[in-house]
Amino acid sequence: MKTQVTIIGAGPSGLLLGQLLHKAGIDAVILERQRPDYVLGRIRAGVLEQVATELLDEVGVGERMHAEGLVHGGFDMLFNGVRHRIDLEKLTDGKKVMVYGQTEVTRDLMDARTAAGLPTVYQAANVQVHDFDTKTPRVTYEKDGQSHTIDCDFIAGCDGFHGVCRASAPRSAIKEYEKVYPFGWLGLLSDTPPVHHELIYVNHPRGFALCSQRSETRSRYYLQVPLTDKIEQWSDDAFWDELKLRLDPEAAEKLVTGPSLEKSIAPLRSFVTEPLRFGRMFLAGDAGHIVPPTGAKGLNLAATDVKYLSNALVEFYSEKSEAGIDGYSERCLKRIWRAERFSWWFTSIMHNFTDEGAINGKLQQAELDYLMHSEAGLKTIAENYVGLPLNFGE
Ligand code: APR
Ligand code: PHB
Repeated sequence: MKTQVTIIGAGPSGLLLGQLLHKAGIDAVILERQRPDYVLGRIRAGVLEQVATELLDEVGVGERMHAEGLVHGGFDMLFNGVRHRIDLEKLTDGKKVMVYGQTEVTRDLMDARTAAGLPTVYQAANVQVHDFDTKTPRVTYEKDGQSHTIDCDFIAGCDGFHGVCRASAPRSAIKEYEKVYPFGWLGLLSDTPPVHHELIYVNHPRGFALCSQRSETRSRYYLQVPLTDKIEQWSDDAFWDELKLRLDPEAAEKLVTGPSLEKSIAPLRSFVTEPLRFGRMFLAGDAGHIVPPTGAKGLNLAATDVKYLSNALVEFYSEKSEAGIDGYSERCLKRIWRAERFSWWFTSIMHNFTDEGAINGKLQQAELDYLMHSEAGLKTIAENYVGLPLNFGE
């Protein structure tokens, strides 16, 4: 088989890149290791920046998001027992965020791809990338016991943190920056009305908590837990009891509990690979970087990576110019490091770092108190949360 771009991975990065390339008339094949229902079974963050919603609109998959997504003009930060509202709209000249689950974004992109009749190979086993240091890369894979080869011009590594693309880059050409946090997030999804109409981020001596939502009848909550905790230790009742302890009395009183639809523990990591281009292979999304979920930046970063990548590929094919592909890595990394910084910082001020002693909690309280009483502090949170403009700092 022959195509212009082989995309590895049918997560949000690969699927959105597929749509962007399709709109530009560039052929692409997506290879995905899992089945579609497995991909859709993964539950991840659900806050989209305006840049991401505009991209989904651009590729024609924004309809359901606008109909079912919840537009939020602010969120609450709770510390020292008191809630403070971050008025995103006021602090950023009218910007808002869209609360719409990543699972739904993925589903909309999958449906659009199927409707357009574009090729996706699910359950592609043993995917391997070859010759990406030449002008004629190849990708091989197995499906139903048969071996296949795709000849292409470019390979897009949209295969997530555990993918094959980053792992295939020459070790001497790659530098990885990593920080693993000493706790995880225990998440619970339930068909209960959200405790509040906006999100609540909680700093509590017992640990961080987050009240999020998927709709007016579906809630998503998180608790900071030790990395050693096992999911079996957390009954639904234990989860709700602990969440109540971390909320203010009004929210604890209002919290509606119910059986969990899903419950899992995820580790928190800051990770960046440099560079994001190896000859004719590019990394995008989680394949190149991971943020801790505290600022919900993962999907937003993935979306801008693939937008930059599709622009670069369009420039290559339409103008015969390599300037875009040459600049891809640097351009993405600038934005990635800004989001990494915000996600790390927001994580640092909101979680309980027991290893760092009681002084850490006191310093956090002082910092949060300062931020809430400073227009500059509030703006810093707000402008990063809604997402810095694509041309920030240029
Ligand atoms: N061969 C084929 N497919 C693979 C391989 C492989 N060797 N390895 C991984 N994949 C697939 C995975 O099964 C997955 O479906 O690549 C896909 C990567 O998807 P994601 O992990 O969702 O990564 P990405 O598309 O970059 O999405 C970024 O997801 O993790 C969140 O917070 C993150 O919101 C961000 C978004
Ligand atoms: C979520 O709804 O899952 C969510 C929301 C905001 C975050 C992280 C996760 O910062």
